[in-house]
Amino acid sequence: MVRGLHSPVMGHRILVVGGGGREHALAWKIAASPLVDRVLCAPGNPGTRAVAENHAVKASDADGISKLVRREKVDLVVVGPEDPLALGLADRLRKEGVLVFGPGAAGAQIESSKAWAKDLMRRYGIPTAASRTFDRFAALRAWFEESQDPVPCAIKADGLAAGKGVVIPQTVDEALEAAWEMMEEKKFGDAGKRVIVEEFLRGRELSVFSITDGRTIAVLEPAQDYKRVGDGDTGPNTGGMGAVCPAPAGTPEVMDAATREILVRTVHALARDGVEYRGCIFTGLMATRAGPKVIEFNCRFGDPETQAVLRRMTSDIVPLLVGAASGRLADVERLEWDQRPSVCVVVASPGYPGKVTTGDAIVGLEAAGEVPGVVVFHAGTAAVGDRVITAGGRVLSVTAVGDTVAAARAAAYEAVSRISFSGMVVRRDIAADAAR
Ligand code: AMP
Ligand code: GLY
Repeated sequence: MVRGLHSPVMGHRILVVGGGGREHALAWKIAASPLVDRVLCAPGNPGTRAVAENHAVKASDADGISKLVRREKVDLVVVGPEDPLALGLADRLRKEGVLVFGPGAAGAQIESSKAWAKDLMRRYGIPTAASRTFDRFAALRAWFEESQDPVPCAIKADGLAAGKGVVIPQTVDEALEAAWEMMEEKKFGDAGKRVIVEEFLRGRELSVFSITDGRTIAVLEPAQDYKRVGDGDTGPNTGGMGAVCPAPAGTPEVMDAATREILVRTVHALARDGVEYRGCIFTGLMATRAGPKVIEFNCRFGDPETQAVLRRMTSDIVPLLVGAASGRLADVERLEWDQRPSVCVVVASPGYPGKVTTGDAIVGLEAAGEVPGVVVFHAGTAAVGDRVITAGGRVLSVTAVGDTVAAARAAAYEAVSRISFSGMVVRRDIAADAAR
Protein backbone atom coordinates (compact mmCIF):
# COMPACT_ATOMS: atom_id res chain seq x y z
CA MET A 1 0.00 0.00 0.00
CA VAL A 2 1.33 3.44 -0.81
CA ARG A 3 1.53 5.58 2.30
CA GLY A 4 2.18 9.24 2.75
CA LEU A 5 2.10 11.14 -0.50
CA HIS A 6 -1.32 9.95 -1.47
CA SER A 7 -3.04 9.37 1.82
CA PRO A 8 -5.86 8.86 1.92
CA VAL A 9 -5.17 6.68 -1.09
CA MET A 10 -8.74 6.27 -2.25
CA GLY A 11 -10.33 7.93 -5.22
CA HIS A 12 -7.65 7.74 -7.86
CA ARG A 13 -8.46 8.77 -11.40
CA ILE A 14 -6.26 6.78 -13.69
CA LEU A 15 -5.79 7.19 -17.43
CA VAL A 16 -4.46 4.28 -19.49
CA VAL A 17 -2.89 5.44 -22.77
CA GLY A 18 -3.20 3.01 -25.68
CA GLY A 19 -5.82 0.73 -27.14
CA GLY A 20 -4.46 -2.80 -27.46
CA GLY A 21 -4.83 -6.05 -25.56
CA ARG A 22 -2.20 -4.98 -23.04
CA GLU A 23 -4.10 -1.78 -22.30
CA HIS A 24 -7.41 -3.66 -21.94
CA ALA A 25 -5.73 -5.96 -19.40
CA LEU A 26 -4.23 -2.97 -17.53
CA ALA A 27 -7.56 -1.12 -17.46
CA TRP A 28 -9.35 -4.31 -16.31
CA LYS A 29 -6.88 -4.83 -13.46
CA ILE A 30 -6.86 -1.16 -12.44
CA ALA A 31 -10.66 -1.06 -12.47
CA ALA A 32 -10.72 -3.95 -9.99
CA SER A 33 -8.93 -1.79 -7.39
CA PRO A 34 -10.96 -0.37 -4.50
CA LEU A 35 -8.61 2.64 -4.56
CA VAL A 36 -9.89 3.80 -7.93
CA ASP A 37 -12.78 6.10 -8.68
CA ARG A 38 -12.55 6.33 -12.42
CA VAL A 39 -10.54 4.59 -15.13
CA LEU A 40 -10.15 6.38 -18.45
CA CYS A 41 -8.63 5.09 -21.68
CA ALA A 42 -7.18 7.04 -24.59
CA PRO A 43 -8.31 5.75 -26.95
CA GLY A 44 -9.13 2.31 -25.51
CA ASN A 45 -11.13 -0.17 -27.57
CA PRO A 46 -14.61 -1.75 -27.49
CA GLY A 47 -13.40 -4.11 -24.76
CA THR A 48 -12.19 -1.39 -22.39
CA ARG A 49 -15.64 0.19 -22.46
CA ALA A 50 -16.80 -2.46 -20.02
CA VAL A 51 -14.28 -1.35 -17.37
CA ALA A 52 -13.36 2.23 -18.27
CA GLU A 53 -14.45 5.40 -20.07
CA ASN A 54 -13.05 5.60 -23.56
CA HIS A 55 -11.92 9.00 -24.82
CA ALA A 56 -11.29 9.49 -28.53
CA VAL A 57 -7.70 10.69 -28.16
CA LYS A 58 -4.89 8.83 -29.90
CA ALA A 59 -1.91 7.57 -27.90
CA SER A 60 0.31 9.60 -30.25
CA ASP A 61 -1.61 12.85 -29.60
CA ALA A 62 0.38 14.38 -26.73
CA ASP A 63 -1.57 17.66 -26.81
CA GLY A 64 -4.85 15.79 -26.67
CA ILE A 65 -3.70 13.63 -23.78
CA SER A 66 -2.41 16.61 -21.86
CA LYS A 67 -5.77 18.37 -22.29
CA LEU A 68 -7.71 15.27 -21.29
CA VAL A 69 -5.61 14.91 -18.13
CA ARG A 70 -6.32 18.48 -17.09
CA ARG A 71 -9.99 18.43 -18.02
CA GLU A 72 -10.72 15.18 -16.19
CA LYS A 73 -8.31 15.87 -13.30
CA VAL A 74 -6.48 12.60 -13.85
CA ASP A 75 -3.93 11.89 -11.12
CA LEU A 76 -2.00 9.02 -12.70
CA VAL A 77 -1.26 8.30 -16.35
CA VAL A 78 -0.18 4.78 -17.30
CA VAL A 79 1.39 4.72 -20.76
CA GLY A 80 1.00 1.38 -22.58
CA PRO A 81 2.86 1.54 -25.91
CA GLU A 82 6.49 2.40 -26.65
CA ASP A 83 6.03 5.05 -29.35
CA PRO A 84 4.57 7.81 -27.17
CA LEU A 85 7.22 7.09 -24.51
CA ALA A 86 10.02 7.30 -27.09
CA LEU A 87 8.53 10.61 -28.27
CA GLY A 88 8.62 12.08 -24.75
CA LEU A 89 4.98 11.90 -23.60
CA ALA A 90 6.01 11.05 -20.02
CA ASP A 91 8.54 13.94 -19.91
CA ARG A 92 5.92 16.38 -21.03
CA LEU A 93 3.24 15.22 -18.59
CA ARG A 94 5.72 15.23 -15.69
CA LYS A 95 6.71 18.77 -16.58
CA GLU A 96 3.02 19.60 -16.27
CA GLY A 97 2.99 18.11 -12.78
CA VAL A 98 1.23 14.85 -13.60
CA LEU A 99 2.18 11.51 -12.05
CA VAL A 100 3.21 9.15 -14.86
CA PHE A 101 3.94 5.44 -15.02
CA GLY A 102 6.39 5.11 -17.93
CA PRO A 103 9.91 6.39 -18.62
CA GLY A 104 10.86 9.63 -20.34
CA ALA A 105 12.42 9.60 -23.79
CA ALA A 106 15.90 9.07 -22.31
CA GLY A 107 14.88 5.88 -20.51
CA ALA A 108 12.78 4.70 -23.44
CA GLN A 109 16.02 4.34 -25.40
CA ILE A 110 16.44 0.91 -23.81
CA GLU A 111 13.89 -0.05 -26.46
CA SER A 112 14.05 2.69 -29.08
CA SER A 113 17.75 2.12 -29.74
CA LYS A 114 19.13 -1.38 -29.49
CA ALA A 115 22.63 0.06 -29.98
CA TRP A 116 22.11 2.33 -26.94
CA ALA A 117 20.86 -0.61 -24.87
CA LYS A 118 23.82 -2.74 -25.95
CA ASP A 119 26.23 0.02 -24.98
CA LEU A 120 24.59 0.35 -21.53
CA MET A 121 24.86 -3.41 -20.97
CA ARG A 122 28.48 -3.49 -22.11
CA ARG A 123 29.51 -0.65 -19.83
CA TYR A 124 27.82 -2.13 -16.76
CA GLY A 125 28.66 -5.81 -17.34
CA ILE A 126 25.07 -6.92 -17.86
CA PRO A 127 25.06 -10.38 -19.51
CA THR A 128 23.84 -10.26 -23.12
CA ALA A 129 24.68 -11.67 -26.55
CA ALA A 130 27.96 -10.40 -28.03
CA SER A 131 27.21 -7.91 -30.81
CA ARG A 132 28.46 -5.39 -33.35
CA THR A 133 26.73 -2.31 -34.62
CA PHE A 134 26.98 -1.24 -38.27
CA ASP A 135 26.08 2.10 -39.86
CA ARG A 136 27.06 1.07 -43.38
CA PHE A 137 26.05 -1.99 -45.38
CA ALA A 138 29.53 -2.31 -46.92
CA ALA A 139 31.14 -2.62 -43.49
CA LEU A 140 28.58 -5.23 -42.44
CA ARG A 141 29.19 -7.22 -45.64
CA ALA A 142 32.95 -7.06 -45.14
CA TRP A 143 32.53 -8.35 -41.60
CA PHE A 144 30.45 -11.31 -42.82
CA GLU A 145 33.04 -12.08 -45.48
CA GLU A 146 35.89 -12.11 -42.96
CA SER A 147 34.13 -13.97 -40.13
CA GLN A 148 34.25 -17.69 -39.64
CA ASP A 149 30.88 -19.25 -38.84
CA PRO A 150 28.91 -15.98 -38.67
CA VAL A 151 25.56 -17.79 -38.85
CA PRO A 152 23.19 -18.41 -37.29
CA CYS A 153 23.12 -14.95 -35.75
CA ALA A 154 20.49 -12.29 -35.12
CA ILE A 155 20.19 -9.28 -37.44
CA LYS A 156 18.33 -6.42 -35.76
CA ALA A 157 17.17 -3.00 -36.86
CA ASP A 158 18.37 -0.48 -34.26
CA GLY A 159 15.07 1.38 -33.85
CA LEU A 160 11.39 0.63 -33.25
CA ALA A 161 9.88 -1.87 -35.69
CA ALA A 162 6.79 -3.20 -33.86
CA GLY A 163 8.58 -6.42 -32.87
CA LYS A 164 9.24 -7.28 -36.50
CA GLY A 165 12.77 -5.91 -36.94
CA VAL A 166 14.66 -9.11 -36.08
CA VAL A 167 15.77 -11.82 -38.50
CA ILE A 168 17.60 -15.04 -37.59
CA PRO A 169 19.47 -15.96 -40.79
CA GLN A 170 20.76 -19.49 -41.36
CA THR A 171 23.06 -18.53 -44.23
CA VAL A 172 25.31 -15.56 -45.01
CA ASP A 173 23.16 -14.76 -48.05
CA GLU A 174 20.07 -14.56 -45.87
CA ALA A 175 21.93 -12.35 -43.41
CA LEU A 176 23.09 -9.96 -46.13
CA GLU A 177 19.64 -9.84 -47.68
CA ALA A 178 18.01 -9.01 -44.34
CA ALA A 179 20.58 -6.30 -43.61
CA TRP A 180 20.25 -4.91 -47.16
CA GLU A 181 16.47 -4.61 -46.78
CA MET A 182 16.88 -2.75 -43.50
CA MET A 183 19.83 -0.49 -44.39
CA GLU A 184 19.38 0.18 -48.10
CA GLU A 185 15.73 -0.53 -48.90
CA LYS A 186 14.59 1.13 -45.66
CA LYS A 187 12.13 -1.64 -44.85
CA PHE A 188 11.66 -0.12 -41.38
CA GLY A 189 12.39 3.49 -42.37
CA ASP A 190 15.05 5.20 -40.25
CA ALA A 191 14.76 2.44 -37.62
CA GLY A 192 16.91 0.26 -39.89
CA LYS A 193 19.64 2.79 -40.72
CA ARG A 194 21.82 1.10 -38.15
CA VAL A 195 21.89 -2.66 -37.82
CA ILE A 196 23.09 -4.83 -34.97
CA VAL A 197 24.51 -8.28 -35.60
CA GLU A 198 24.31 -10.50 -32.54
CA GLU A 199 25.66 -13.80 -31.39
CA PHE A 200 22.95 -16.48 -31.59
CA LEU A 201 21.89 -17.54 -28.11
CA ARG A 202 20.62 -21.04 -27.42
CA GLY A 203 18.22 -21.83 -24.63
CA ARG A 204 14.69 -21.06 -23.53
CA GLU A 205 13.18 -17.61 -23.55
CA LEU A 206 11.30 -15.76 -20.86
CA SER A 207 9.90 -12.26 -20.46
CA VAL A 208 10.29 -10.55 -17.10
CA PHE A 209 8.71 -7.26 -16.04
CA SER A 210 10.51 -5.17 -13.42
CA ILE A 211 8.43 -2.37 -12.02
CA THR A 212 10.74 0.39 -10.84
CA ASP A 213 10.84 3.91 -9.45
CA GLY A 214 14.48 4.19 -10.51
CA ARG A 215 15.84 2.74 -7.26
CA THR A 216 13.72 -0.17 -6.06
CA ILE A 217 12.36 -2.96 -8.24
CA ALA A 218 9.38 -5.27 -7.95
CA VAL A 219 9.75 -8.29 -10.24
CA LEU A 220 6.52 -9.74 -11.60
CA GLU A 221 5.95 -13.41 -12.37
CA PRO A 222 7.84 -14.45 -15.53
CA ALA A 223 5.97 -15.19 -18.75
CA GLN A 224 6.90 -16.72 -22.05
CA ASP A 225 5.58 -15.42 -25.32
CA TYR A 226 5.34 -17.14 -28.68
CA LYS A 227 6.82 -14.81 -31.28
CA ARG A 228 6.58 -16.61 -34.60
CA VAL A 229 3.29 -16.56 -36.45
CA GLY A 230 3.14 -20.29 -37.19
CA ASP A 231 2.78 -23.47 -35.16
CA GLY A 232 6.08 -25.03 -34.11
CA ASP A 233 7.76 -21.59 -34.14
CA THR A 234 7.69 -21.19 -37.89
CA GLY A 235 7.17 -18.16 -40.12
CA PRO A 236 7.99 -14.53 -39.45
CA ASN A 237 8.27 -12.84 -36.06
CA THR A 238 5.21 -11.04 -34.75
CA GLY A 239 4.46 -8.89 -31.72
CA GLY A 240 3.49 -12.16 -30.00
CA MET A 241 0.87 -14.82 -30.78
CA GLY A 242 0.32 -16.01 -27.23
CA ALA A 243 1.82 -16.33 -23.78
CA VAL A 244 2.00 -18.54 -20.74
CA CYS A 245 2.64 -17.52 -17.14
CA PRO A 246 4.68 -18.68 -15.29
CA ALA A 247 7.36 -19.26 -17.94
CA PRO A 248 8.77 -22.79 -17.85
CA ALA A 249 12.28 -21.31 -18.08
CA GLY A 250 11.67 -19.09 -15.04
CA THR A 251 13.01 -21.49 -12.42
CA PRO A 252 14.00 -20.05 -9.02
CA GLU A 253 17.70 -20.34 -10.04
CA VAL A 254 17.15 -18.47 -13.30
CA MET A 255 15.01 -15.81 -11.62
CA ASP A 256 17.56 -15.32 -8.82
CA ALA A 257 20.45 -14.98 -11.26
CA ALA A 258 18.42 -12.70 -13.53
CA THR A 259 17.35 -10.48 -10.65
CA ARG A 260 20.87 -10.14 -9.28
CA GLU A 261 22.95 -9.90 -12.44
CA ILE A 262 20.51 -8.27 -14.82
CA LEU A 263 17.38 -6.64 -13.41
CA VAL A 264 18.89 -4.83 -10.41
CA ARG A 265 22.03 -3.91 -12.35
CA THR A 266 19.99 -2.42 -15.16
CA VAL A 267 18.14 -0.07 -12.82
CA HIS A 268 21.40 0.95 -11.19
CA ALA A 269 23.05 1.42 -14.59
CA LEU A 270 20.26 3.75 -15.70
CA ALA A 271 20.43 5.71 -12.44
CA ARG A 272 24.24 6.02 -12.64
CA ASP A 273 23.90 7.32 -16.18
CA GLY A 274 21.52 9.97 -14.86
CA VAL A 275 18.43 8.46 -16.46
CA GLU A 276 15.40 8.63 -14.18
CA TYR A 277 13.26 5.58 -14.95
CA ARG A 278 9.78 5.21 -13.49
CA GLY A 279 7.75 2.47 -15.08
CA CYS A 280 8.15 -1.06 -16.35
CA ILE A 281 11.37 -2.50 -17.75
CA PHE A 282 10.55 -5.52 -19.87
CA THR A 283 13.56 -7.80 -20.12
CA GLY A 284 13.50 -10.49 -22.78
CA LEU A 285 15.87 -13.17 -21.51
CA MET A 286 17.42 -16.32 -22.86
CA ALA A 287 18.10 -18.92 -20.17
CA THR A 288 21.38 -20.26 -21.57
CA ARG A 289 23.72 -22.88 -20.11
CA ALA A 290 25.91 -20.00 -18.99
CA GLY A 291 23.01 -18.34 -17.15
CA PRO A 292 20.38 -15.85 -18.24
CA LYS A 293 21.31 -13.28 -20.90
CA VAL A 294 19.43 -10.28 -22.22
CA ILE A 295 17.89 -10.62 -25.70
CA GLU A 296 16.16 -7.25 -25.58
CA PHE A 297 14.74 -4.58 -23.34
CA ASN A 298 11.41 -2.86 -23.82
CA CYS A 299 10.40 0.33 -22.04
CA ARG A 300 6.86 -0.87 -21.24
CA PHE A 301 4.75 -3.89 -20.41
CA GLY A 302 4.77 -6.66 -23.02
CA ASP A 303 1.88 -7.60 -25.22
CA PRO A 304 0.53 -10.35 -24.89
CA GLU A 305 2.55 -11.26 -21.76
CA THR A 306 0.73 -8.64 -19.67
CA GLN A 307 -2.60 -10.28 -20.36
CA ALA A 308 -1.30 -13.58 -18.96
CA VAL A 309 0.64 -12.04 -16.04
CA LEU A 310 -2.18 -9.82 -14.80
CA ARG A 311 -4.67 -12.70 -14.77
CA ARG A 312 -2.48 -14.19 -12.03
CA MET A 313 -1.81 -11.06 -9.96
CA THR A 314 -4.08 -11.12 -6.93
CA SER A 315 -2.59 -8.00 -5.32
CA ASP A 316 -4.00 -4.61 -6.12
CA ILE A 317 -1.95 -3.18 -9.01
CA VAL A 318 -2.66 0.47 -8.18
CA PRO A 319 -0.22 0.86 -5.24
CA LEU A 320 2.45 -0.64 -7.49
CA LEU A 321 1.78 1.80 -10.32
CA VAL A 322 1.47 4.81 -8.01
CA GLY A 323 4.52 3.71 -6.02
CA ALA A 324 6.69 3.49 -9.14
CA ALA A 325 5.38 6.75 -10.58
CA SER A 326 5.89 8.66 -7.34
CA GLY A 327 9.31 7.28 -6.34
CA ARG A 328 7.88 5.35 -3.39
CA LEU A 329 7.99 1.78 -4.55
CA ALA A 330 9.85 0.69 -1.41
CA ASP A 331 6.64 1.33 0.57
CA VAL A 332 4.56 -1.10 -1.48
CA GLU A 333 3.69 -4.45 0.06
CA ARG A 334 4.90 -7.72 -1.46
CA LEU A 335 2.87 -8.88 -4.43
CA GLU A 336 0.56 -11.88 -4.18
CA TRP A 337 -0.10 -14.30 -7.03
CA ASP A 338 -2.72 -16.85 -7.95
CA GLN A 339 -0.84 -20.15 -7.93
CA ARG A 340 -2.74 -21.33 -10.98
CA PRO A 341 -1.06 -20.82 -14.36
CA SER A 342 -2.49 -18.69 -17.14
CA VAL A 343 -2.45 -18.92 -20.91
CA CYS A 344 -3.17 -16.23 -23.51
CA VAL A 345 -4.02 -17.12 -27.11
CA VAL A 346 -3.96 -14.29 -29.64
CA VAL A 347 -6.55 -14.22 -32.42
CA ALA A 348 -5.21 -12.27 -35.40
CA SER A 349 -6.48 -11.00 -38.74
CA PRO A 350 -5.65 -12.77 -42.00
CA GLY A 351 -2.27 -11.62 -43.30
CA TYR A 352 -0.74 -10.80 -39.90
CA PRO A 353 2.15 -9.88 -39.36
CA GLY A 354 2.07 -8.48 -42.91
CA LYS A 355 -0.69 -6.42 -44.49
CA VAL A 356 -3.99 -7.47 -42.92
CA THR A 357 -7.61 -7.57 -43.99
CA THR A 358 -9.94 -5.92 -41.46
CA GLY A 359 -13.56 -4.83 -41.12
CA ASP A 360 -15.04 -8.31 -40.63
CA ALA A 361 -17.77 -8.93 -38.08
CA ILE A 362 -16.62 -10.94 -35.04
CA VAL A 363 -19.14 -13.41 -33.68
CA GLY A 364 -19.15 -15.47 -30.50
CA LEU A 365 -17.46 -13.00 -28.13
CA GLU A 366 -20.09 -13.39 -25.46
CA ALA A 367 -20.08 -17.20 -25.62
CA ALA A 368 -16.28 -17.18 -25.43
CA GLY A 369 -16.34 -15.08 -22.27
CA GLU A 370 -18.67 -17.61 -20.62
CA VAL A 371 -16.05 -20.38 -20.58
CA PRO A 372 -15.01 -20.78 -16.92
CA GLY A 373 -11.66 -19.10 -16.18
CA VAL A 374 -11.68 -17.09 -19.41
CA VAL A 375 -11.43 -13.34 -19.96
CA VAL A 376 -11.37 -12.09 -23.56
CA PHE A 377 -9.30 -8.93 -23.91
CA HIS A 378 -9.82 -6.84 -27.02
CA ALA A 379 -6.93 -5.52 -29.11
CA GLY A 380 -7.59 -4.60 -32.74
CA THR A 381 -11.37 -4.31 -32.63
CA ALA A 382 -13.84 -1.53 -33.45
CA ALA A 383 -17.51 -1.08 -32.67
CA VAL A 384 -20.04 -0.39 -35.42
CA GLY A 385 -23.45 0.05 -33.85
CA ASP A 386 -23.80 -3.01 -31.64
CA ARG A 387 -21.45 -5.11 -33.74
CA VAL A 388 -17.76 -5.62 -33.10
CA ILE A 389 -15.50 -5.82 -36.14
CA THR A 390 -11.84 -6.54 -36.72
CA ALA A 391 -9.69 -3.41 -36.90
CA GLY A 392 -6.04 -4.45 -36.58
CA GLY A 393 -3.43 -7.18 -36.81
CA ARG A 394 -3.87 -8.74 -33.40
CA VAL A 395 -7.61 -8.71 -32.73
CA LEU A 396 -8.22 -10.47 -29.41
CA SER A 397 -6.22 -11.87 -26.49
CA VAL A 398 -8.14 -14.82 -25.14
CA THR A 399 -6.84 -15.54 -21.63
CA ALA A 400 -7.59 -18.33 -19.18
CA VAL A 401 -6.43 -19.55 -15.80
CA GLY A 402 -6.65 -23.22 -14.88
CA ASP A 403 -5.44 -25.68 -12.27
CA THR A 404 -2.75 -26.83 -14.70
CA VAL A 405 -1.28 -25.35 -17.87
CA ALA A 406 -3.16 -28.04 -19.78
CA ALA A 407 -6.45 -26.95 -18.20
CA ALA A 408 -5.77 -23.26 -18.86
CA ARG A 409 -4.90 -24.08 -22.48
CA ALA A 410 -8.02 -26.16 -22.91
CA ALA A 411 -10.19 -23.33 -21.58
CA ALA A 412 -8.50 -20.71 -23.77
CA TYR A 413 -8.87 -22.84 -26.90
CA GLU A 414 -12.49 -23.71 -26.03
CA ALA A 415 -13.17 -19.97 -25.90
CA VAL A 416 -11.29 -19.41 -29.18
CA SER A 417 -13.40 -22.11 -30.84
CA ARG A 418 -16.54 -20.11 -30.01
CA ILE A 419 -15.19 -17.03 -31.83
CA SER A 420 -15.21 -16.60 -35.55
CA PHE A 421 -14.48 -14.07 -38.25
CA SER A 422 -13.34 -14.39 -41.81
CA GLY A 423 -9.84 -15.87 -42.10
CA MET A 424 -8.92 -15.62 -38.42
CA VAL A 425 -5.34 -16.64 -37.59
CA VAL A 426 -4.60 -18.58 -34.40
CA ARG A 427 -1.58 -20.59 -33.34
CA ARG A 428 -2.69 -24.01 -32.13
CA ASP A 429 0.34 -24.79 -29.99
CA ILE A 430 0.44 -21.92 -27.50
CA ALA A 431 1.72 -23.26 -24.14
CA ALA A 432 1.78 -26.85 -25.48
CA ASP A 433 5.46 -27.09 -24.48
CA ALA A 434 4.67 -25.72 -21.02
CA ALA A 435 1.82 -28.21 -20.55
CA ARG A 436 4.18 -31.15 -21.05
P1 AMP B 1 13.74 -9.24 -30.11
O1 AMP B 1 12.74 -8.38 -30.84
O2 AMP B 1 15.08 -8.62 -29.96
O3 AMP B 1 13.17 -9.84 -28.86
O4 AMP B 1 13.93 -10.54 -31.02
C1 AMP B 1 12.82 -11.28 -31.44
C2 AMP B 1 13.08 -12.75 -31.25
O5 AMP B 1 14.21 -13.15 -32.01
C3 AMP B 1 13.43 -13.13 -29.83
O6 AMP B 1 12.31 -13.32 -29.03
C4 AMP B 1 14.20 -14.40 -30.04
O7 AMP B 1 13.32 -15.49 -30.26
C5 AMP B 1 14.94 -14.12 -31.30
N1 AMP B 1 16.28 -13.60 -30.98
C6 AMP B 1 16.63 -12.30 -30.90
N2 AMP B 1 17.94 -12.17 -30.59
C7 AMP B 1 18.43 -13.43 -30.51
C8 AMP B 1 19.72 -13.95 -30.23
N3 AMP B 1 20.78 -13.16 -30.01
N4 AMP B 1 19.86 -15.29 -30.20
C9 AMP B 1 18.80 -16.10 -30.43
N5 AMP B 1 17.56 -15.66 -30.71
C10 AMP B 1 17.37 -14.34 -30.75
N1 GLY C 1 5.54 -9.70 -26.73
C1 GLY C 1 6.71 -8.95 -26.86
C2 GLY C 1 6.53 -7.50 -26.81
O1 GLY C 1 5.62 -6.97 -26.21
O2 GLY C 1 7.37 -6.80 -27.37
